[in-house]
Amino acid sequence: MTRVSILGGSGYGGGELLRILLSHPHVTVSQVTSRGLAGKSVGRAHPNLRGHTGLKFSDPGDLQPCDLLFLAMPHGKASGSWDDLEPLAERFIDLSADFRLDDAESYARFYGTHPRPDVNSTFTYGLAEVNRDAIRGASRVATGGCNATVSILALLPFFEQGLVHLDRTVIDVKVGSSEGGADPNEGSHHPVRSGTVRPYRPTGHRHTAEIEMILGRHGAARVHLSVTAIEMVRGAAALAHIFLKETLTERDIWGILRARYDDEPFVRIVSERTGVYRFPEPKLLAGTNYCDIGFELDANSERLVVVAAIDNLVKGSAGQAVQAMNLMMGWDETAGLGFPGLHPI
Ligand SMILES: NC(=O)c1ccc[n+]([C@@H]2O[C@H](COP(=O)([O-])OP(=O)(O)OC[C@H]3O[C@@H](n4cnc5c(N)ncnc54)[C@H](OP(=O)(O)O)[C@@H]3O)[C@@H](O)[C@H]2O)c1
Repeated sequence: MTRVSILGGSGYGGGELLRILLSHPHVTVSQVTSRGLAGKSVGRAHPNLRGHTGLKFSDPGDLQPCDLLFLAMPHGKASGSWDDLEPLAERFIDLSADFRLDDAESYARFYGTHPRPDVNSTFTYGLAEVNRDAIRGASRVATGGCNATVSILALLPFFEQGLVHLDRTVIDVKVGSSEGGADPNEGSHHPVRSGTVRPYRPTGHRHTAEIEMILGRHGAARVHLSVTAIEMVRGAAALAHIFLKETLTERDIWGILRARYDDEPFVRIVSERTGVYRFPEPKLLAGTNYCDIGFELDANSERLVVVAAIDNLVKGSAGQAVQAMNLMMGWDETAGLGFPGLHPI
């Protein structure tokens, strides 16, 4: 069995990693850290895991070497403490934005000067659907942001085929409160957050850089991303408005999506044309590693609206990380990720 540990295990991403890893066929979880809960059962932070493990939280300072270390800390922590982390494992998977961007200028535009460009260049972007071969050979992976993941998967087939007006794509992502992490803040206080439809970032969202990095492989892509917080705990749901360079039929769009995603184990094309479930819904994906994708062509213009949904904590974070681990280790890519979701929920 491969020994893995989680640094930042009391948070939402760390909790989902632990849930998935505890029933993974090839790993054993050695340590899970929390500064505040060291010595306490992991069930204190993750009550859904009561009875599934006897693990107790460790202090980050007590981490022992392991085969693969997951980093699930807030932005800036992994890069800030890299010299202490490096000796702890042969392989790393980081869930944060510290090492996702390969271009120093884009990083600086959204996050400021990168503290460790030397380390950044050793990391591989971890979204399997766009980087499978590179992940297979990598020992350090940075998984994609949740809003970036759902946006990239919605847009990729059309950018790859050169069908899109490169500077006119608008992505509107609705997100749940768990995107903000387990640490409460002014905006997450229940009376403030509940029932809200709050434009969180109408412009300038940091994940724009990641989306443009990946789509930019297919031309000088610019995307216009808006993110709105809505009444939901888990989920990221994207409406991607693409302006097509040529007239396409519904049949053409099906063909493009099928050709791109039929072999992808975690991308599902929603093909129903009638009924309430004819478009992807994040609620149905809670706890799963799927990204569901559907679309509608605007009969009155060259606009194609691609609809995509994920669980931000799974395909948008911990599940994507486990999928990347499976590739890095040469295991079945789907190992540990078979949960089909719940219905009704
Ligand atoms: N939430 C999402 O939907 C989502 C999606 C994709 C990516 N991400 C990224 O994944 C990372 C984790 O997100 P999250 O939502 O799980 O955050 P979170 O719920 O706030 O959890 C953060 C974790 O990091 C630990 N931590 C904080 N500061 C630390 C430090 N200085 N040293 C060691 N541990 C520290 C915290 O544990 P203690 O305080 O108990 O030590 C906690 O376990 C973030 O970088 C986030 O941007 C999040």
